[in-house]
Amino acid sequence: MPLSPSEPNTAAASPGAPVLTVEGLHITVGSGRAEAVRDVSFRVRAGEAVGLVGESGSGKTLTCRSVLGVGAPGVAVSAGRIDLAGTELTALSARAWEQVRGSRLGAVFQDPASYLNPSITVGRQLAEPLRVRLGLNRAAARERAVELFASVGLHRPEEVYHRYPHELSGGMLQRVLIAIAVAGEPELLVADEATTALDTVVQAEVLELLARLRTERGLALLLVTHDLAVVAEVCDRILVFYAGEIVEDGPTAEVVAAPAHPYTEALLRVASIGDWRRRDLAVIPGRPPEAGAAPAGCRFAERCAFATAACTDGPVPLTVRADGRRVRCTRADELALSGAFAAPATVTDPATVTAPATVSDQADRALQEVTA
Ligand SMILES: Nc1ncnc2c1ncn2[C@@H]1O[C@H](COP(=O)(O)OP(=O)(O)OP(=O)(O)O)[C@@H](O)[C@H]1O
Ligand SMILES: [Mg+2]
Repeated sequence: MPLSPSEPNTAAASPGAPVLTVEGLHITVGSGRAEAVRDVSFRVRAGEAVGLVGESGSGKTLTCRSVLGVGAPGVAVSAGRIDLAGTELTALSARAWEQVRGSRLGAVFQDPASYLNPSITVGRQLAEPLRVRLGLNRAAARERAVELFASVGLHRPEEVYHRYPHELSGGMLQRVLIAIAVAGEPELLVADEATTALDTVVQAEVLELLARLRTERGLALLLVTHDLAVVAEVCDRILVFYAGEIVEDGPTAEVVAAPAHPYTEALLRVASIGDWRRRDLAVIPGRPPEAGAAPAGCRFAERCAFATAACTDGPVPLTVRADGRRVRCTRADELALSGAFAAPATVTDPATVTAPATVSDQADRALQEVTA
């Protein structure tokens, strides 16, 4: 079934069947019902990892929490479908959604300690729900919990079972949360900034664990992060959010090699990812519009180096390109053709110019093909 108003990114799809289909999602916040997420549509397929990136306040967490059915005071889904492999989640009662969340949907967040009860051992916090859900006796639930702890890479899982949350490190707590999240054999795991608070080494280990679980279990992964390097490493596809809208969607390697939206280009430039010539640590000037205060035209126009008067005329649709990538920029084709994005930026280390990365080579080739 097509996504509205724009088609899904079929060219980028992995062979797996769609696990999550979000279609035309609108979310309002506050008593004034300001629109914080507007017309968001995307799919995640079995075994596919999709990364959500974008500046703070762009609607990534609201989108994830809507999928999980975890509301917050003043937050409302005002329109849209959220389909989990044939189940329309928005039609479920809160209780039914909670059951789906404990089984078919798993979630991990930034602060694992806040999701655990400090006065109960982590083992019991995993074993008790297993006992209820799977009808296991105490001994069998404990055995299963220890197996799960081992499967998420916790050393001495029998000992960990008896620990209280405050006795474990942040990395271990995140592994416990991941064990709880995958205990119900979910089809989709939502990880919102799940590794942000961890040190670099532990972050890499937890990401490796998520990647392994995805491969072993055919798990679909929706990953929110501010770290584009993480997306480049882990995700098949990237969804770029700006001011509550998707502005770009495509296979990660292609987007990184040749971003189609000026905002994606700016993000990659700031993150120093992709084309080595684009590396530039300068911030993107300006700020995104607040929820409910977005202009009628392109929401990024005010900060965009390529904006023309026409960009602010009216809403810019998310259009599907011939290669299946989606982009919300009326000038995208023209900019890519003119090579505007490939123009050398501030380069601090001349060596980087003579030692381009592979992605740069790909971008160069693509550019040559287009301009030939
Ligand atoms: N409970 C709430 N009440 C009012 N406004 C909210 C609420 N939750 C989010 N918002 C607003 O909705 C917008 C999107 O928030 P969201 O948390 O989804 O952003 P985000 O992309 O996850 O940002 P970050 O990268 O900082 O986590 C922001 O403008 C935020 O202020
Ligand atoms: Mg967030």
